Amino acid sequence: MYQALYRSFRPEVFDELLGQEHIEKILKNQIATGTTGHAYVFCGTRGTGKTTTARLLAKALNCTSDGDRPCGQCEACRAIAAGTFIDVQEIDAASFTGVDNIRQLREEVNYPPVTGRNKVYIIDEAHMLTNAAFNALLKTLEEPPANTVFILATTEPNKLPATILSRCMRLDFKRVPEETILGLFKRICKETGVDAEEDALSLIASNADGSVRDGLSILDRCIAGRKSLTRDDVLFLLGMAGAEVYIKITDEVLAGNTGEALTTFAGVLSEGKEVNRFVLDWVEHFRNLMVVKFTEKPENVINLSRENVAKLKAQSDSVNMDDIRRCIETLSKALADARWSPKPRVLAELAIVQMCSGTAVTGIEDASRPAAQPAARPAAAVNRGDSFVRPAAKPAAVEQPAAEEKPPVRTSTLVEPDPVDRKLEDIWYNVMQSEEIPALLRMSGSVLRDIKHGVFTVQLSNEIIKSMLENERPLIEALMEDETGKRLRMEAIVKE
Ligand SMILES: Nc1ncnc2c1ncn2[C@@H]1O[C@H](COP(=O)(O)OP(=O)(O)OP(=O)(O)O)[C@@H](O)[C@H]1O
Ligand SMILES: [Mg+2]
Ligand SMILES: [Zn+2]
Repeated sequence: MYQALYRSFRPEVFDELLGQEHIEKILKNQIATGTTGHAYVFCGTRGTGKTTTARLLAKALNCTSDGDRPCGQCEACRAIAAGTFIDVQEIDAASFTGVDNIRQLREEVNYPPVTGRNKVYIIDEAHMLTNAAFNALLKTLEEPPANTVFILATTEPNKLPATILSRCMRLDFKRVPEETILGLFKRICKETGVDAEEDALSLIASNADGSVRDGLSILDRCIAGRKSLTRDDVLFLLGMAGAEVYIKITDEVLAGNTGEALTTFAGVLSEGKEVNRFVLDWVEHFRNLMVVKFTEKPENVINLSRENVAKLKAQSDSVNMDDIRRCIETLSKALADARWSPKPRVLAELAIVQMCSGTAVTGIEDASRPAAQPAARPAAAVNRGDSFVRPAAKPAAVEQPAAEEKPPVRTSTLVEPDPVDRKLEDIWYNVMQSEEIPALLRMSGSVLRDIKHGVFTVQLSNEIIKSMLENERPLIEALMEDETGKRLRMEAIVKE
């Protein structure tokens, strides 16, 4: 039977764990010196090895090898990997809600291990625990029973009570560097006999945005049923323009290379990207350039891998704020006008030409729109520039004082809203902003089509993105419930 890559490639020993050397070092040392703690919190982005490391630690605490622990070979190690070791329990906090669960855990904790040396409770998605469960846990952590270890794993440590955090050793998992993920991909392709271009694999690695699991699942979908994989295949399969294309076209625009920029743009469209989506994401790119300019540690504010942030940073150093503002305004204008135009592509091309020649937004006046604002008043421009820093991007990002009293507006509100769509767009925007959404999905231009009869319909650009969305069903349905206050079922459709 076929097993997904991210299941078949779960590290069995510390050496296979990627990109978490700081954690590996601490744990290995504790294991070697017998100084492991009673309680740990593993935090960090999705798919970076929290559950995997929890299992490694559980194995090490029960491994019978004389050499490095865990060995991954002994009976205990294998049973833990298979999930059949009685003394190691994995609890999914989301379903661990009942009074009975909690009572049972509190009683059970007092018994010594059955077959192993240590009992280990791995509590996944720990931020989902109920207050009752946290309280029960707290009692146990206050007087930790001998030979029992708790490992709480979570993407949202800020949702754990301080009383719990203060009793645990906290280890923060980092996004895994692109290079490291690329190395893993190369190995996998070699082992599975897929002849893949390095560029193709780099592209996937960069879209994994530091999550090994996301990377593996994109890779899985791209190589399914293939013997070879090119960069073009990946672009086609994912129906997207990679983050790099924005860096490239922006370079071309800023250098005034009109011809090259138009060619790049045409290339993007021929790969199936929608005009408006591309322009919107390009605005987002300029917003990122701006944030990077004003932020000391942009990787904390911008949801991209370190490599992509580094590329952004390099570009942002070579562009001034006036250019950023001018480009954002020109693109926003094109986007707004596209609403009334049967030919959005021409407007986007016109915007590119204008950006290349360094002129401001004047000129794309549309007759069908009453009283369009006189273009590029400097005061208004400052204010608009500011407004691209969304509330989600911590305020530290930009320190310019607001020039006028005006509520913050989000990028997409620059498109004249149509009342119904606006609301759906807002809801979906918020859902997609969640840290837990895979980066590729966030960038893929999904659209919330409607909500009716207890069902919300999401439209995706292709089957791969659709299956990624399906994968996140529980998460997305929960986020939608947060947004709408209603329990809704998700329906995913692919656009013709
Ligand atoms: N640091 C890593 N090194 C090697 N493989 C990894 C790493 N992180 C994740 N993986 C791969 O991704 C899969 C899932 O990882 P894991 O369950 O440990 O992630 P997680 O951090 O617990 O994610 P989540 O927050 O979604 O629970 C693993 O089976 C493995 O294939
Ligand atoms: Mg996990
Ligand atoms: Zn072992």
